[in-house]
Amino acid sequence: MEQTIRTLCEIYGPSGREERVMAAIEEMIKPFVDELRYDVMGSLFAKVGSGGKKVMFAAHADEIGLVVSYIDDKGFARVAPVGGINPINLYARRVEFANGTIGVVGVEQRDVAAGKVGWANVFVDVGVTSKEETEKLINVGDFACFKQDSFVQGDFIVAKALDDRIACAAQVEALKKLNKKVKNETYFVFTVQEEVGVRGAKTSSWSVEPDFGFAVDITGWGDTPLCNPANMKLGGGACIKAMDQGLVVAPKIKKLMIDTCEANKIPYQIEVLRGGATDAAAMQYAKAGVPCGVISIATRYVHQPSEMSHLGDFASAVKLIEKLANADYSKL
Ligand code: CO
Ligand code: ZN
Repeated sequence: MEQTIRTLCEIYGPSGREERVMAAIEEMIKPFVDELRYDVMGSLFAKVGSGGKKVMFAAHADEIGLVVSYIDDKGFARVAPVGGINPINLYARRVEFANGTIGVVGVEQRDVAAGKVGWANVFVDVGVTSKEETEKLINVGDFACFKQDSFVQGDFIVAKALDDRIACAAQVEALKKLNKKVKNETYFVFTVQEEVGVRGAKTSSWSVEPDFGFAVDITGWGDTPLCNPANMKLGGGACIKAMDQGLVVAPKIKKLMIDTCEANKIPYQIEVLRGGATDAAAMQYAKAGVPCGVISIATRYVHQPSEMSHLGDFASAVKLIEKLANADYSKL
């Protein structure tokens, strides 16, 4: 299971550039699905099962990144964020473009000293001395993401893009375990462009028209020195969301998720995320509305090149997805 996560995390795939991630997922899930299709925006839909209710799970395949906005005369590329990146954290990080070009993020040194780094003060250095040389490698409008390999140490996994490839991996592993035997008409959707405003989830949930929806995503953490107080611990089990900035989970959905964990001895913890949202923020508005929940995985150092999650929590999330796909929704 950890290899699935690592493989997906290491792929290049900033928002709007998810094709390679989708191709890898398609290859992994092909034997375990009844139907595969893409929508106009590029989200991948895997359908399994029939009867019962229409249940949709959504994990986003994109990751945060940078886009080149301007190249100066010396060849340094100015960049804009694709999703939520703080420029303060970018100094000397490696980024990779679609064609394999690697750049190092530089910061205007006087501003580092002042501790005031904004987007105007950072640049990508691809190791050149002129604009002409740079333009042979990258151009305005090209997208980059972090260049970082992954590793596993004990029960912990460290990688770029655990947000949200760990959830894509959880959907892949759940599909394998279900092996097409599902009591509900279930859609596993791998969405595009979550990091720039849950855009893929908007169209994909209208396309599926689910009766019930679940986003699968990472969430914050509350277990490192002097961090903001939060209930989520790495190793504490799958997180069942109560609320974030895009969704208030209906009591009946939260109860279904808790009851499912207790009946199946799945470790869980209740999550309130004070900043951020997931694909469920969009899914809940499809057609006349969809009751939604979120299965989250507590993750440290979110939106950084080395995000960290717990493999036990991943296993719990996979099991919860599997059981929710087979749950009885008739009384909800
Ligand atoms: Co994110
Ligand atoms: Zn995410």
